[in-house]
Amino acid sequence: MTKKWWHDKVVYQIYPKSFYDSNGDGIGDIPGIIDKLDYIKDLGVDVIWLSPCYKSPLADQGYDISDYYSIDPRFGTMEDMERLIAEAKKRGICVLMDLVVNHCSDEHEWFRKACEEPDGKYGNFFYLRDKKEGKAPTNWRSCFGGSAWDDLPGTDKQYLHLFHKKQPDLNWENPEVREEVYKNINWWLDKGLGGFRIDAIMNIKKALPMHDYAPDREDGMCSIGAMLKEAQGVGEFLTEMRDRTFRKYDAFAVGEVFDANPDAIDALIGEDGYFSSMFDFNEAFFGASEKGWYDATLITPDDYKRCCFESQARVGDIGFLSNIIENHDEPRGASHYIPEGDCCAESKKMLGALNFMLRGLPFIFQGQEIGMENLPLTSIDEVDDISALDEYKVALNAGLTPEEALKAVSRFSRDNGRTPMQWSDGVNAGFTTGTPWLKVNPNYTSINAAAQVDDPDSVLSFYKELITLRKDPAYKETIVYGALKPAWEDRHNLMAYYREKEKTLLVIGNYQKQEQEITLPSPYKKVLLNNYHDIATDNETIRLHGYQVLILEM
Ligand code: GLC
Ligand code: CA
Repeated sequence: MTKKWWHDKVVYQIYPKSFYDSNGDGIGDIPGIIDKLDYIKDLGVDVIWLSPCYKSPLADQGYDISDYYSIDPRFGTMEDMERLIAEAKKRGICVLMDLVVNHCSDEHEWFRKACEEPDGKYGNFFYLRDKKEGKAPTNWRSCFGGSAWDDLPGTDKQYLHLFHKKQPDLNWENPEVREEVYKNINWWLDKGLGGFRIDAIMNIKKALPMHDYAPDREDGMCSIGAMLKEAQGVGEFLTEMRDRTFRKYDAFAVGEVFDANPDAIDALIGEDGYFSSMFDFNEAFFGASEKGWYDATLITPDDYKRCCFESQARVGDIGFLSNIIENHDEPRGASHYIPEGDCCAESKKMLGALNFMLRGLPFIFQGQEIGMENLPLTSIDEVDDISALDEYKVALNAGLTPEEALKAVSRFSRDNGRTPMQWSDGVNAGFTTGTPWLKVNPNYTSINAAAQVDDPDSVLSFYKELITLRKDPAYKETIVYGALKPAWEDRHNLMAYYREKEKTLLVIGNYQKQEQEITLPSPYKKVLLNNYHDIATDNETIRLHGYQVLILEM
């Protein structure tokens, strides 16, 4: 495998709206990120990924862009963005932005022009179809509920939106659209970005001609999954994009790829892949149901282990996965992957270490490093997430009581990851002096960065140790490039694996509150990391404490 500059990095995802508000309007902003760069530097990460801060009506919190060349005034100015890139660089940190080009906003000038003149140049920037009374062009359900088609205002046509109706899909079949996209990517790379995280990118290729698929719910519609599976040729677009943009700059590009076909791994992230890396969503999507969130199966520790190992085996040393336990679309990892009632500093550290030591690129989502948890909801009125609001309706329609529906939504709501970063136990968790745009998690009085920064036993300090270990010259080669071999694979509530290259490391997590004993095949040389102060062992048999995690050099 050819070594790349980004292989040994650790990435920190920032959700700008909720990170730090510098001017008291209740909305996090770019100057706020600059204010917190030293915190990020101190954590030890070397790359930050910003969720979108381009000009946007924020119908989907910035994933609906109305101008790819400007920063939304709520987040700051272009000068702020340039200053952020420069200040980050001074600290050895490179910046990734979010590339959202499957769709734009219905407030983008292209869409406005398409409405004015549907048969003109900009009509062909979108997927337009003639309107037929009472029948949408296809029975596709948008990812946020309802038909994927809406009327093109002022015309007799309809337009396609795989996501919200304020997110019209761009027609990638049109070379002019692709040129616009590449021009924009290069414009940003010229500003000194390290690369991009690429949103919903596998959706850019539609199966044509468009047609109906078998309905999968009572509404007579189907999710877009079947259509995407049928779509052929996305690779041509992705190759062209890579060659015209990222490759010229040796930029890093991580794709939001769901449902990757095992045969496609090499094409996606191999030596000559479309992307540098792609996220592993195997754990996140475990238990998902076609019916909706209310019908999801909750993940157990054994499922979690199986999902991680499956992904690792599938990718092997073909390329680099990007490993996450949470992001701005997912529940907090601590609340989701740790059995109910067991969420505590030890279990959070265990989960962090098990994920962090997998082969691939570790991503940390803001607040994960201090162990932030899901937001307890008391009413649906507290929900902002458009996806959660739709899922609430779906649950009610399926016959759940409002309480049950709220519970289902609380588990998966994207707001869980979007509540303001908990900086301190001060007003609004130190996030803003104004009124926060989204409710602060009431647990901020006990879970916050200020309380953890000088505490050697905190979750935050543990994450710093994990990052330091990944960078340690003695272990780096093994942690970054070493093969992963599962150990005691069938043992209930135990997740363990070897990482092998120059060194042999053994990562062991006791994924339960009860103690459990293991016998090592040979005595270990050294304990590299431990979330407890002691290790109960005679060097071959270890009696693991509840949720104890160990990284051993063998
Ligand atoms: C991606 C984003 C998500 C957004 C969607 C549509 O999945 O991560 O937040 O809603 O794409 O852009
Ligand atoms: Ca602000």
